[in-house]
Amino acid sequence: MSRRVRIATRLSGIKPSGIRRLFDLAQGDPDVISLGVGEPDFVSPSHVLEAAKQAMDEGKTHYTPNAGILELREGLAKKAKKDYGLLYDPQSEVLVTAGGTEAIFLALTALINPGDEVLVPNPGFVCYEPNILMAGGVPVSMPLCEENSFRLNANVVTSLITDRSRVMILNFPNNPTGSVLSYDSIAGLAKLAVERDLIVISDEVYEKILYDNVKHHCLATFRGMRDRTIVVNSFSKTYAMTGFRVGYALGPKELIASMLKCHQYVAACTNAPAQYAAVAALEGPQTFTENMVQEFDRRRHLLHSRLDEIEGFQCLLPQGAFYAFANVKEFGLSSEKFADYLFDKEKVVTVAGSSFGEHGEGYLRFSYATAYDKVREALDRIENAVKTFN
Ligand SMILES: Cc1ncc(COP(=O)(O)O)c(C=O)c1O
Repeated sequence: MSRRVRIATRLSGIKPSGIRRLFDLAQGDPDVISLGVGEPDFVSPSHVLEAAKQAMDEGKTHYTPNAGILELREGLAKKAKKDYGLLYDPQSEVLVTAGGTEAIFLALTALINPGDEVLVPNPGFVCYEPNILMAGGVPVSMPLCEENSFRLNANVVTSLITDRSRVMILNFPNNPTGSVLSYDSIAGLAKLAVERDLIVISDEVYEKILYDNVKHHCLATFRGMRDRTIVVNSFSKTYAMTGFRVGYALGPKELIASMLKCHQYVAACTNAPAQYAAVAALEGPQTFTENMVQEFDRRRHLLHSRLDEIEGFQCLLPQGAFYAFANVKEFGLSSEKFADYLFDKEKVVTVAGSSFGEHGEGYLRFSYATAYDKVREALDRIENAVKTFN
């Protein structure tokens, strides 16, 4: 008989992501409509695909510098200057990673000593808490409440800071709630970070997916923040390039150097053809993203207005990303049970709010990165499911 495999205790408290659960169940059934997974349903721009193919044809299929090809790092530094007036040295302050996901892992690994506390939005992106635990840190939840339009309340955040607090993770536009922060709110949090000597990991992967002329403010532009912020970003959402796995981190050179040390031993480098594709995405026309956001906007209004009409649902109009986070407490079930009910009854996949932390309980996340007609049909089905709910 084989010996039982003993798994490291570091991983024992980490559960698989709740996002994939219903999605996996639904695989292979053409009648299922998924409002579950968070990735654009658009094909990556054709010039991006061409650049990846060309890179392969030219034999650019080898290791690249650990930090990423210089051309891409230069392009990212140029983007930071153009979008936000921020100066980063492409040689030492820009790191290309396997998606924003790896950048978050590297930043936490570089910063956290055992027992250090990390302030993290709750509900929040599913990777944060497991990554904090893997780095030996202690997650401290910063609640995002519906009463406050799922924004952070600076007084509450202040009350959560202790002598062990070291890092704060921010994510606006936000997954799973679609909320954004005003300039003044970010300024308040930045001031707090400076006063309490916190490093901020600012996850800005949805920076370009904003509605109603709302503007994105990069955290590193606030007073005193450039040298205490790791800006995490990605090509996944902006250019519908999730499968390419290209993300990046911008930050002060000591921190980027430590992240690079870890990246070098974990991934060596990001996929080479994908890096050339990313250069093409940066250099090419940006109309792809604008058109995609326009289409998301149409779906956002459809989803929000229809959900709001269905008895028992309450839904704020999201201002960014491609998620709506609807209150379903009236149904009296846990969010997981209610997501199961919609799936069993009408084959609609949603994500239980509790997958994003305990403050997400009582909510369902709906992704509208799904074709307009499918969103409409999913809503018809949900309406039916609710009519027969008892
Ligand atoms: C808030 C947030 N950050 C980071 C990511 C990571 O994306 P990727 O690793 O594809 O760049 C996601 C993906 O869903 C996300 O929602």
